Amino acid sequence: MSWSPSSWRDFPIKQQPVYEDRDELKRVEEELRSFPPLIFAGEARNLKKELARAAKGEAFIVQGGDCAESFSAFNGDTIKNLFKLILQMSVVIAYSSGKATIKIGRVAGQFAKPRSSDFEEKDGVKLPSYRGDIINDIAFDEEARKADPKRMIRAYFQSAATMNLLRAFSRGGLADLNEVHRWNLDFIKNHPIGKKYEELSSQIDKAMKFLKAAGVTSENTPQLRQTTLYTSHEALLLNYEEALTRIDSITGDYYNTSAHMLWIGDRTRDLDGAHIEYFRGIKNPIGCKVGPSMKPDELVELVKVLNPENEEGKLNLIVRMGAKKIDELFPPLLRAVRDANLNVVWTIDPMHGNVEKINGFKTRDFENILSEVKSFFNIHKQEGTIAAGVHLEMTGEDVTECTGSTSCPITPDDLSDRYHTQCDPRLNAKQALELAFMLAETFES
Ligand code: PEP
Ligand code: CO
Repeated sequence: MSWSPSSWRDFPIKQQPVYEDRDELKRVEEELRSFPPLIFAGEARNLKKELARAAKGEAFIVQGGDCAESFSAFNGDTIKNLFKLILQMSVVIAYSSGKATIKIGRVAGQFAKPRSSDFEEKDGVKLPSYRGDIINDIAFDEEARKADPKRMIRAYFQSAATMNLLRAFSRGGLADLNEVHRWNLDFIKNHPIGKKYEELSSQIDKAMKFLKAAGVTSENTPQLRQTTLYTSHEALLLNYEEALTRIDSITGDYYNTSAHMLWIGDRTRDLDGAHIEYFRGIKNPIGCKVGPSMKPDELVELVKVLNPENEEGKLNLIVRMGAKKIDELFPPLLRAVRDANLNVVWTIDPMHGNVEKINGFKTRDFENILSEVKSFFNIHKQEGTIAAGVHLEMTGEDVTECTGSTSCPITPDDLSDRYHTQCDPRLNAKQALELAFMLAETFES
């Protein structure tokens, strides 16, 4: 079966906007096609190698960021705080587990959203649903909700600027292991979880002093002073993804150059659908969400289509069952893939199966999130397989979107205080850090 970056167009497709002005859409696609790539294929190959290590239990994946990035919340502080939070979580996990961490942001391109309904109704007015800032605007009025192709151009430039800052932070000194205290966010410092982090930082300082005495310093050891943060998003809007799919001059293979890793959402993973067709042809490491409706046979077939050469580190299955369903639904899927000798990288998204509505807010309870993560680890332990990482919706800001947690007990009545998400509720920095400490304990036990 021949493949091209546009062959998805011959397949049934879900969750796409309706663009009224087809000529404008074509013009925008042409323009995007002429723009420089945002990543280099060699970086995507490096990530694939690292993911292969995670699948063997030698490294651990921390993937996280917004449910949906927005044009309005685009600023340097938000990006910096997310970067610092990922570094903090990584160091907490690495210190206890002794494993390298692979840092992947849901960032610099995470704009398009699948929706449960094509329309939203308010006070008798029915309008197209908000589908993410790359497609339309969240305001509830007719003009705002029209799908506008030009938004893809803005999303591209915002992604480029975000990526630029992340690369600067990664290489410019902020990620230096001598700077661990600086990663602690101001609004966390005086909370129990911030203090716990400070204690760990002091231990790391001691280790750094010892290394310095032994002659190992940031100056002579780049690994101590810099890091790599990979980027990822759900490749939902295929017009955009196709335009950024390019042939790598070194290998002659096609890579999606809009992010290092792309994933397929739970609502668009039909075997005969356009998204699977698109994904089977790109060489990047890719992910696929695995929700409660997935059947073992279906999953085995899907894995074979998405990773035909059974490459290690190529395919990340992101399990998102919900705390109450994972114990029943996940083991048969895990066994089917294992028994078919298929190489996959298993991670857990404890967010999307645990959504509830309280006081009119879409929220998630921290207890359910922790519980699903723990079940995921336990099941792998029982089956002799590897839990390779976590996939989270989180922010370095002090929001009140998910309820619960010990260090930061947000009640249903607190939700309205700082509920800022464009789409799904995110863990705030304290909650995310608390989750990292829980993972650290899991590794120590
Ligand atoms: C998401 O990751 O934001 C998402 C929509 O997830 P899922 O496809 O698992 O529902
Ligand atoms: Co989401």
